[in-house]
Amino acid sequence: KKIVFSGVQPSGALTIGNYIGAIRNWVELQDEYDCYYCVVDQHAITVPQVPKDLRKNTLDVLALFLAAGIDPEKSVLFIQSHVPAHTELSWVLNTMTYMGQLNRMTQFKEKSRRAEENLNAGLFTYPVLMASDILLYQTELVPVGEDQKQHLELARDLAERFNNRYSDTFKVPDPLIKEFGARIMSLQDPTSKMSKSDFDENGYILLLDSPDVITRKIKRAVTDSKGTIDYNEEQLGIKNLLNIYSAFSNEEVDEIVIKYEGQGYGKFKGDLAEVVIEGLKPIQEKYDYLVKNKDYLEKIYKDGADRAAYQAMKTLRKVYKKIGFIPR
Ligand code: AMP
Ligand code: TRP
Repeated sequence: KKIVFSGVQPSGALTIGNYIGAIRNWVELQDEYDCYYCVVDQHAITVPQVPKDLRKNTLDVLALFLAAGIDPEKSVLFIQSHVPAHTELSWVLNTMTYMGQLNRMTQFKEKSRRAEENLNAGLFTYPVLMASDILLYQTELVPVGEDQKQHLELARDLAERFNNRYSDTFKVPDPLIKEFGARIMSLQDPTSKMSKSDFDENGYILLLDSPDVITRKIKRAVTDSKGTIDYNEEQLGIKNLLNIYSAFSNEEVDEIVIKYEGQGYGKFKGDLAEVVIEGLKPIQEKYDYLVKNKDYLEKIYKDGADRAAYQAMKTLRKVYKKIGFIPR
């Protein structure tokens, strides 16, 4: 079986962007592939985190993976910091990554523009750690949203560079980016992506938002003065809302546009809120149940770490040997 790897940062509560662009697609892959799904806490600390929030968010993300339909019998679910091989390989790959490559990363450029404090080196080498996550498992497919494409390129590049310099060691991974839903936009600014680290909470909908909050945020979503429900580049706000509608209702965008011909934004937004609330309900119910079962969650992530570490060590040992480290 081919290997699938993906991760989400516990840098806040998950948004419907994470769900539509990533996690929802992970569920479908479980039957056909050997999947590793990771809560990447080491990536999260590249921006300041409050320890108790990080702890809560890490378990929340794990519970949400399960609530969204990821099955621990089929997939390996684990927490990045539990498998030290990630940072170990990352050091090796750091020494093979060019500064120029990292300087060109758009996510780094964006994040460093926004940063209020001094920039830390971890933010800069973040994509190298991500490459290590992927390459350690001999991953062939990486299901992610559009924003991760450039990071995937680096992972491919490092795999090839290592293979060429030493000998065949890593599989060269391919991104799996769905055309639909790979980029859900902010409700307040439909030119930038919906993000859990947005300072304006009206920009995102969280998987755990209550019905009232969801309704309020959708009502406030930015639209335009055209007043028609059409799918085009001049009405980015409505376009985004149509994408969200389609993701949760499983109706095609074209069908939704026809359904709302001649209707106003008020009615459309009201219905959209309902569709999202209904779509999230089963996930929220499972989450509520799971998050109270700390023992169960602990069992899942311990078991996951054991299984992940076993595979990761196999690759790491090969790497160490090839670069000339003496085995202990
Ligand atoms: P992150 O929250 O940055 O850890 O992202 C976790 C996963 O969700 C990655 O695969 C991202 O590409 C995806 N993702 C994050 N935000 C969005 C968004 N607004 N639209 C679609 N996918 C997203
Ligand atoms: N950088 C990714 C993001 O912000 C999260 C991530 C870390 C990841 N390691 C990964 C995604 C490995 C896919 C594979 O979304």
